[in-house]
Amino acid sequence: PAPGWTTRADVVVVGSGIAGLTAALRIHAANPSLRLLVVTKDVLAAGSTQWAQGGIAAALGPGDTPEQHEHDTLVAGAGACDVDAVRVLVTEGPEAVRELIALGTQFDHHPDGELSLTREGGHHRDRIAHAGGDATGAEIQRALIAAVERAPEIEVVQHALAVDLLLAADGGVAGLTLHVLGEGQRDGVGAVHCRAVVLASGGLGQVFSQSTNPSVSTGDGMAVAMRAGARVRDLEFVQFHPTVMWLGPDSQGQQPLISEAVRGEGAFLVDFDGNRFMQGEHPLADLAPRDVVAKAITRRMIETGHPHMWLDARHLGADASEASRVGDRVGGEERDVVSRFWERRFPTILRVCREHGVDPVTELVPVAPAQHYASGGVATDLWGRTTVPGLYATGEVACSGVHGANRLASNSLLEGLVFSRRIADVLPGELRDWADPVADVRPEGLVSGERRRSMQETMTTRVGVLRNAAGLAEARAFLGSLDHGAAEVGPDAWETTNLLTVSTALAEAAALRTETRGSHWREDHPDRDDTKGGHVDSWLDADGRV
Ligand code: SIN
Repeated sequence: PAPGWTTRADVVVVGSGIAGLTAALRIHAANPSLRLLVVTKDVLAAGSTQWAQGGIAAALGPGDTPEQHEHDTLVAGAGACDVDAVRVLVTEGPEAVRELIALGTQFDHHPDGELSLTREGGHHRDRIAHAGGDATGAEIQRALIAAVERAPEIEVVQHALAVDLLLAADGGVAGLTLHVLGEGQRDGVGAVHCRAVVLASGGLGQVFSQSTNPSVSTGDGMAVAMRAGARVRDLEFVQFHPTVMWLGPDSQGQQPLISEAVRGEGAFLVDFDGNRFMQGEHPLADLAPRDVVAKAITRRMIETGHPHMWLDARHLGADASEASRVGDRVGGEERDVVSRFWERRFPTILRVCREHGVDPVTELVPVAPAQHYASGGVATDLWGRTTVPGLYATGEVACSGVHGANRLASNSLLEGLVFSRRIADVLPGELRDWADPVADVRPEGLVSGERRRSMQETMTTRVGVLRNAAGLAEARAFLGSLDHGAAEVGPDAWETTNLLTVSTALAEAAALRTETRGSHWREDHPDRDDTKGGHVDSWLDADGRV
């Protein structure tokens, strides 16, 4: 439909997690005369940031250095990171986190006033700052929203789905179309004419049947960028978090995360016979990088025919001497100690486990891997620039090169923070002139929302943790058979069409990568092959095909 309303802004930021709000706040702080619009698909706090549990990694502790953080990031990334991007991340990270603290984020501290730092998979040091025990993302989101509220000149439009970019004659950004639900004058489809767009719209978790991502993570930013001619990179590197609470075979959508920090504090994985199967798998055992743990769990599930494994955290915080152990568990007074530790350190996870009928203080928690993070995304340079003039990308939607084939735990919030600061540094100085839009890149036809479930099931079973050529070919054939043009125009069809675009690019990239690397696991190509270690870039051709 033709836009029912139009407006103007110098810069539009799409998304309101740590990446989007950091970009908006910093652009505004240094350039108060620029008109800035933040659009977000739901309410400001609805994205992935507020679900982050473990924390934000940075070399802030005694004896830690950016070089050590760089080393752990590169090892986890399995030879596919961009070293320059990783260096930017780890060297600018500590200052960026200190700035977040100055903005009002309240991280946890020890009684002596030192920042409390924990460890997660793949880190050789305690370097994860956390807040509210296991509610780090929620605290960061709170502090950022409070800062945006202190800057009323930043205009915010909620319930606004970014539909497509408007392009100028030179192929650069001239604007953006939106579908806004119920925001006064701005209701329905509208167009914003602008000079730059910052995509900070998060990931693609809803491509899969089970994900730790919220329902808004439908790959919109990646699809919008592709339709505007941008390249996406390394979409096959989808991270599956090893310890997601298993809620039964029919559970769909967002699933409860059991943070790696729980293992960082001493929890471990066991199979149905009580064997600690991570021992001997990797020198870091239960704290091996995430892909190693997810693969070990999946392998053990396949070998034993069970749909999940178990996490044992019944001893956390207790000085569980042999004398006080009852079988594998601590007994008596230690039980109260464990309970208090859980309440203080992991209050959110404790509540959620109990809501689902499992008490981690006294019971094993059923866990299985589920989709967690897109390590790939819209390809950017070190300053967040995409291949489309005037279009920037930051956070999970982007592929800055820092994650390679497998993101190191708690580097995601940091990436959004660091690269949004960089975008804010360069964007005002390279703003494009106002240009008339000559093309609306919206696709000809949309896919019906009724197709969403079958797409998710296909992606989960054929393009999930374990992949092979036959399954990938089936997935590509199924995705290619879906009918464009059958759907009524509206947010559900736009989201489903975006899911189809990113699913297709992901399945094509996974088929092209005939090796096993990081989180991309090919049964039929079980080894890493450094002759195939390059990036896989995807884009749409003139007919809209990946
Ligand atoms: C977690 O808390 O385990 C997740 C942290 C992350 O995804 O980096």
